[in-house]
Amino acid sequence: MESPIEPVREPGPVTAEAPSNIAFIKYWGARDLEEPVPFNRSLSMTLDACRSVCSASPLGEGEEDEIWWLDKPAGGRPGRPAAPPPAFVERTKRHLDRLRDWSRRTAAPYSGGFRIATYNTFPTAAGIASSASGFTALTLAATACMGFDLAPRTLSALSRSSGSGSAARSAWGGYVEWPDGDANAAVQILDERAWELCDLIAVVETGAKKVSSRDGHRRAESSPYFAPRLAALDGRLERVRAALHARDFKGLGDAVEEEGIDLHLIAMSSRPPVYYWTPGTIEVLAAVRCLRSDGVAAYATMDAGANVHVICQPADAEKVADRLEAQGSVKYVVRDRTGGPPVWRGGAEL
Ligand code: DP6
Repeated sequence: MESPIEPVREPGPVTAEAPSNIAFIKYWGARDLEEPVPFNRSLSMTLDACRSVCSASPLGEGEEDEIWWLDKPAGGRPGRPAAPPPAFVERTKRHLDRLRDWSRRTAAPYSGGFRIATYNTFPTAAGIASSASGFTALTLAATACMGFDLAPRTLSALSRSSGSGSAARSAWGGYVEWPDGDANAAVQILDERAWELCDLIAVVETGAKKVSSRDGHRRAESSPYFAPRLAALDGRLERVRAALHARDFKGLGDAVEEEGIDLHLIAMSSRPPVYYWTPGTIEVLAAVRCLRSDGVAAYATMDAGANVHVICQPADAEKVADRLEAQGSVKYVVRDRTGGPPVWRGGAEL
């Protein structure tokens, strides 16, 4: 029998930070949405600036969990605590219950409550994978607060059990693959020092998207193009992987942009259809094609939202950002790049 996971410290307050990620090959559609079990392998780049920060403090035995989120950060500092919407509180509490259940199989079962306070450094629910960074930060903060220091594979599997598949990939820095089927943890394929790329996020919408990724996953199979997509995906993922290993930026960009469009073809042809794109998305896609015809290597991809992630190499980042900022529909550009793994430290900072 495997020996149970041992804690490294007494329960106590902590603060965790976890990165978001941008999918180069997207998770879209699931055999089981609760676990979740994806239909296809996905592959992402971990981000640096787009992250969730989460403090967790232990409360007494049987005390109810307290959930706070902080206003949008102003001048780099988080704002005032506010009560989050009921759906957010419920999803957070359900995940804390899962983590308490998990602790029963360790050497240090925990049955106290938690005080959780959290914020994102970027717009929430707008196609910047806030559930990936959010659930990874929550999982890391709560388990560290119970006294554990999780290995990335365990963090990946536990974060995924929140229901957010993309969270499985935020447990690692660099470039990360999440297998299909019921393999429950993502693995790192290259670390963040292997190849630094930039992700300039052209924000054309700051509000939350109207159709959740969850509903999008549910509808994916109804698209007549879903089966052909799955048939093509292994080949595309191999192209991405080979380009990463060879540091072949054009090979990577071609496959990534093709995939970014493909996800939305599935969404738009689902029944009922899901349109995440807005006129701003189309404007940015055209600007990216223009950059390429001017000789600047930049490639676009979108998650489930209107905002466009423009991937380029560091030497071109300013030129690309200037062009994106010149588009009428771009409210601002988030300058991000390849990032490292999640971290935690003692003390509740929020
Ligand atoms: C389009 O079920 O992980 O971003 O993080 O809430 O969007 P959210 O949920 P999740 O679906 C992710 C869908 C995707 C593609 C991807 O990140 O692989």
